Amino acid sequence: MENTAQQANNALQAASQPIEHTTLLMVLGISGLLALAVLMVPLASRLKIPYTVMLAAMGILLGLIAELVLHAPWLGFLHEFVEALFSLEITSEAVFFVFLPALVFESALAIDVRRLFDDISPILMLAIVGLLISTAVIGFTMASVTGAALIICLLLGAIVSATDPVAVVAIFKDLGAPQRLAILVEGESLFNDATAIVVFTILSAMILGQSDPTLLSGLFSFAKVFFGGIFIGYLTARLCCFMLPHLGESNLPKISLTMSLAYLAFIIAEHSLHVSGVMAVVTAALVLGSRGRSIITPSAWHGLEEVWEQLGFIANSVIFILVGLKVPSILASMTAQHLTWLGILLTAGFSARFVVIFGLVPVMGRLGLAAEVSKGYRAVMFWGGLRGAVSLALALAVMENDNFPAEVQQFIGIMVTGYVLFTLAVNATTVHLVMRAFGLGKLSPTDEAVRDRAFQTTMRSVSERVRSSARAMHIGEQQTDSVVKPFETLAREGGAGLTSSDITAEDWRLIGLRMITMSENKAYHKMLDEGEISPEIARNLFGQSADISDSLRHGGVDAYVATYKDKLDYHWQTKLAILVQRYFGLPRFLAKRLATRFQILEAECTALHELRQKGLAQVQNIIGEDACAEVAALLEQRDIETERALAGLRACYPEYAEALERRMLQQTAMRLEYRHYKEMQSNSLIGKEVTSKLLEQMAERYTDLQQNLTLDLGLEADVLIAKMPFFSGLQADSQQAIAKLLKPRLALPGETIFEQGGPPDAMYFISSGAVRVQLGDGDVMLGSGDFFGEMALLTDQPRMASVKAEGFCELLTLSKQDFRQLLQQDNNLRSTIENVAKERTQSNQG
Ligand code: CMP
Repeated sequence: MENTAQQANNALQAASQPIEHTTLLMVLGISGLLALAVLMVPLASRLKIPYTVMLAAMGILLGLIAELVLHAPWLGFLHEFVEALFSLEITSEAVFFVFLPALVFESALAIDVRRLFDDISPILMLAIVGLLISTAVIGFTMASVTGAALIICLLLGAIVSATDPVAVVAIFKDLGAPQRLAILVEGESLFNDATAIVVFTILSAMILGQSDPTLLSGLFSFAKVFFGGIFIGYLTARLCCFMLPHLGESNLPKISLTMSLAYLAFIIAEHSLHVSGVMAVVTAALVLGSRGRSIITPSAWHGLEEVWEQLGFIANSVIFILVGLKVPSILASMTAQHLTWLGILLTAGFSARFVVIFGLVPVMGRLGLAAEVSKGYRAVMFWGGLRGAVSLALALAVMENDNFPAEVQQFIGIMVTGYVLFTLAVNATTVHLVMRAFGLGKLSPTDEAVRDRAFQTTMRSVSERVRSSARAMHIGEQQTDSVVKPFETLAREGGAGLTSSDITAEDWRLIGLRMITMSENKAYHKMLDEGEISPEIARNLFGQSADISDSLRHGGVDAYVATYKDKLDYHWQTKLAILVQRYFGLPRFLAKRLATRFQILEAECTALHELRQKGLAQVQNIIGEDACAEVAALLEQRDIETERALAGLRACYPEYAEALERRMLQQTAMRLEYRHYKEMQSNSLIGKEVTSKLLEQMAERYTDLQQNLTLDLGLEADVLIAKMPFFSGLQADSQQAIAKLLKPRLALPGETIFEQGGPPDAMYFISSGAVRVQLGDGDVMLGSGDFFGEMALLTDQPRMASVKAEGFCELLTLSKQDFRQLLQQDNNLRSTIENVAKERTQSNQG
C-alpha cells in the first residue's frame, strides 16, 4: 500500500500541477471521507454496530478497493478521489497536532468535572498505575516470547495500553448506562492517553539513544512531563476564562477562542516546553468546563458545546478511516508467527487489565482510597477497554520514524493494528452483552417508577388537551372519543411494559427533592442568562447547588438539610476576611465577601420562592400529593432560614440592600425594554437599523449597571464612636485620643467573641448590634452603647463568662495596655467602668 501511496504521489507530482491542484485534492479527500463517514451513521445504527467500528471497517474496505481503483484511471472522479485520499499522507504529526487536540478537548469538555472528581482516585489509579502495570506485563511477556529487546516490548506495551472510549461511550448512550460508569470509563481513557503518550515519548527517546535509560530518570521525566502538562493547561485555560467575558455579545469569537485554547495549550506544552500536550489539553478543557459555564451565558455555552461536538465527530471520523486505509498494507506483511505473537500480546494485555481492574480497584476501595466500584461496572470496564485512535497514532509515529530499525517498525505496526482491530471487532461488538448480563442497561426501580408516572401524567394532559381542541374545532363526540379514549385508558392504567414498582413514600420524597434541586440549578442558569446575577455569583450558586444535590444523592434528605444549613453558615473565605480585617485592619476583602453573600442569599431566596410557587406544582404530578407536601415543607423551612440570614445582613447594611434592590429593578426594566424593542422588530413595526440604534441608546443609559456595587462596612473608629452615647459625654480632645486607641471589629451572627476562662486581653464597646453574655444561671443581653470584657481586665483574672454575637455587631476593642493607660489618664472613665463592673458582680452574686 505504501507503494501505491507513493505511486499516487508520484503521479500527482508528474502532473506538475500548480499547488491549487493539491489543495483541491486535499479538500476533495477530506470532504469525500466525511461524506462516506456520515453514511456509516445510519448504517451503524441499523446494523447495531458501534459507529467507530463501522468506520474502521469501511477504512479497511476502502484500502482494499483503493488498490484496484488506483490502477483504473478510467474510473474518472472515483479515481481522482482515491488519489486524493492517498495524497493526504496522514502522518502521525498530522494526527497529533490536528486531530488529537480536538478529540481530547471535546471529550474532556463534555465530562461533568464534579462527578469526575468524585471518582478521581480510582480513575488516576487506573490511568497511571494501571497503565504502568499493563505496560510492564506486556513488555516482559512479549520480550520473553519474541526475543525482541525489552525496551521495544515495553514501548509496545505503552502503545496498546491506552484505552479509547469513543465506541463504548456510544454504546453507553444507546443503552442508557449509569452516569458513574460512563465517567469512570471516559475519565480513565482521558488520563491514560496522556500517560501512555508520556511513557511512549520517554521510551522512544531511550531507544533512539537520546536519553539515558535509568528507572529514576524515567520516573523523573514522567513526573515532569505529566505535571508540566497540567500546569500549562491550567494556565492557558485561566487566561482564556479571563478573556472570554471581554469578547462582546456574539458567541462566535468566544467559541473561536476556545478552539485556539485547545491547540495553543497543546502546542505550547508539547512543542515549546516538551511537556505533555494531551495532559495540557485535558486540563484546559476541564478548567474551561468547570468555570466557563458561569463566565459565558448558558445559551453561548450550549453553542460552544455543539461546535466542539461537531469538531470531535469530524476528527474521530477522519482519523478512523485514514488509519483504516493503512491497515491492509500493514497486515499484508503479517506472518503466522506474527499471529501467534498477537495472540500472546492479547492474552498479556487482557490479563494485565484483569489484574488491575479486579485486583487493584477493589483493594483501593477496601483501603478506603477510592469509592467502591461494583462488580458489574468492573466487568464492563474490563471488557470495554477498547483501543483506538491514540494507539494507532503512536504506532504510526514509530512506523514513520526511520530511526527505528525496519523490523521494529513492522513489529509495532502489525501488533498494534492487530490489537486495535481485535478490540474493535470483538469487544466493541459484545460489550453490550456484558452490560445486559449485569443489568446495567436497565433503569433503576426509582427511575422506572418516575418513567411510569411521567407517562401517565402526559397521557392525562394530552387527552384533556385534545378534548378541548376538539370542542374548539366543533369535532363530534364520537370522533373525539375514538381518538382520546385510548389515551385516557393509558392515563388510568399505564401502558404495556409499565411496572408497578413498590416505591416507598420516602423514595418519592427523595425523587421530588432531586427534581426540585435540579430546577433550582436551572433557575440560577436563567438568572445568569438574564443578567440578574453576575458570573461570579452564578459560579458560587452553581457550586452550592451542585454540593446540595451531591449530598442528596449520597446521603438522602438528612444530608440535604445538613448541607443547605452548612451553606447558610459563613464561608471560610468570609471567616478569613474577618481575620484579615481584625488583625491587619484591611476591610476591603471582608466588604467584598459580605457583598457576595448578600447577592447569593438574595438569588437563593428568589429561586426558592419561585420553586415553591411554580416548581412544586409540576413535581406534584409525578411524585403525588403526599410526598409533594413533605417536599414543600422542607423547602419552606429552607426558605425561612435563608430569609432569616438575609434579613440579618439587611438590618446591618440597609443602604447596600436598598442599592441592590434598586439595581435588580433596573435590570428587570432593562430586560423588559430589550424585549419590547425586539418584539416590535419581529412584528415588523420597526426595522433592524432602528432597533440597533435603540439598543445602542439603551446600553448607554444602563452603563452604571455594569459597575460593581460597593458595600461600605462603616468600620471606622470615629464613625462608630460618634454613634455611641457613652463617648458623647467626653470632651472632643479625649474623644479623639480614645478614637486612636479603639480598633473596629465586626462580629458575625453567632460568633463567639471570647470564651469563659479566656485571657484578659481586651475590652469591648458595642457600637451596633447585640451580644449575649452566657452566665450560668440565665443569659444577659447587652446592646448598642454597652460594653463588656472589663471585669477580667480590672481584676486580671480569666473571663468569667463567654460572650456571643446575636446578630451582626460592630464593636470597638480596647487592648489591655491601652485600657490601663486610658484609665490612669481619665478618672471619669475609670469610675464609670468600675461602677458598672461592681454592679455586675453584685447582680451575679445576688
Ligand atoms: P469578663 O469577665 O472580662 O468577661 C465576661 C464579661 O461578661 C464580663 O467581663 C462582663 O463584662 C460581662 N458580664 C458579666 N456579668 C454580667 C452581668 N450580670 N450583666 C452584664 N454583663 C455581665
